[in-house]
Amino acid sequence: MKGTALITGASSGLGAEFARQLDGRCSHLILVARRGDKLRSLAESLSTSSTIIECDLSLPDSPRWLCEDIENRELCVDVLINNAGIAGPNLLEVKDFSEQHAFEQLMMTTVAELCSRLIPPMQARGYGRVVNVASVAGRFPSSDTGNYGPSKAYVIAVSEELNLAARSDGVFVTALCPGFTHTEFHEVAGMMAAKNNSPKWIWYDASTVVAEGISGCDSGRPVVISGRLYRWLDPFLRSSLFRGTILRLVGRR
Ligand SMILES: NC(=O)c1ccc[n+]([C@@H]2O[C@H](COP(=O)([O-])OP(=O)(O)OC[C@H]3O[C@@H](n4cnc5c(N)ncnc54)[C@H](OP(=O)(O)O)[C@@H]3O)[C@@H](O)[C@H]2O)c1
Repeated sequence: MKGTALITGASSGLGAEFARQLDGRCSHLILVARRGDKLRSLAESLSTSSTIIECDLSLPDSPRWLCEDIENRELCVDVLINNAGIAGPNLLEVKDFSEQHAFEQLMMTTVAELCSRLIPPMQARGYGRVVNVASVAGRFPSSDTGNYGPSKAYVIAVSEELNLAARSDGVFVTALCPGFTHTEFHEVAGMMAAKNNSPKWIWYDASTVVAEGISGCDSGRPVVISGRLYRWLDPFLRSSLFRGTILRLVGRR
């Protein structure tokens, strides 16, 4: 990966790790999230020059505003890391639909609009790398929330299509699918009890996930399942045996 990289959700977890691993590889980093203090202390720890943009990507106008801000600073994006994300509300328990719409905007519409605005100029320049951070949760249905997995399934599908559409112009688009990863995600979602009760061997470090995402995207792979455990499980989770039989049994229960 080379040139200027835009990283959303760079204030913690996987986004901050992308910034650390692209430090020195890219010539400039654009770090985006809501918590400016976190972005500033990350930027101070990096050797590559960076631009900090505080932005709430769950607002409908945010992708347009962000791209205009970047253009006004006379920067052009060669590497796009669409990473910002949250667990979101349970679809069957939503009381305030503005929360649901903000979730859909952050997880899907903003990702699509940033791809739509930033990939064509990459194609025109003949080089681009895009990592859309999805999840193993987007690879199979579960009875959990009706929201998070489907939003990531969309990110995987749109990344696969964009990879086919843009790769002949030198632009590779990858859906990075991590499994359980040590970041702030579960704390923000109020899921620390579940995390603490789960076996340690299902958890990966952000550094492994990000390294696999960068090398998979540089190789042009449309989907990267991160972590040996999840790569091994993926064919089973997508099989008709799992979807047709095991999920039906779970549903009956
Ligand atoms: N951790 C896991 O187990 C796991 C597994 C699979 C996939 N993922 C995906 O990995 C991605 C990164 O999450 P993470 O695990 O690194 O969690 P994290 O440590 O909580 O980081 C989430 C990042 O998203 C940013 N963000 C959240 N809402 C935002 C908003 N409205 N506008 C702008 N930025 C926003 C946060 O920044 P601010 O709060 O400063 O805005 C933060 O930088 C997400 O897309 C998540 O779905 C995580």
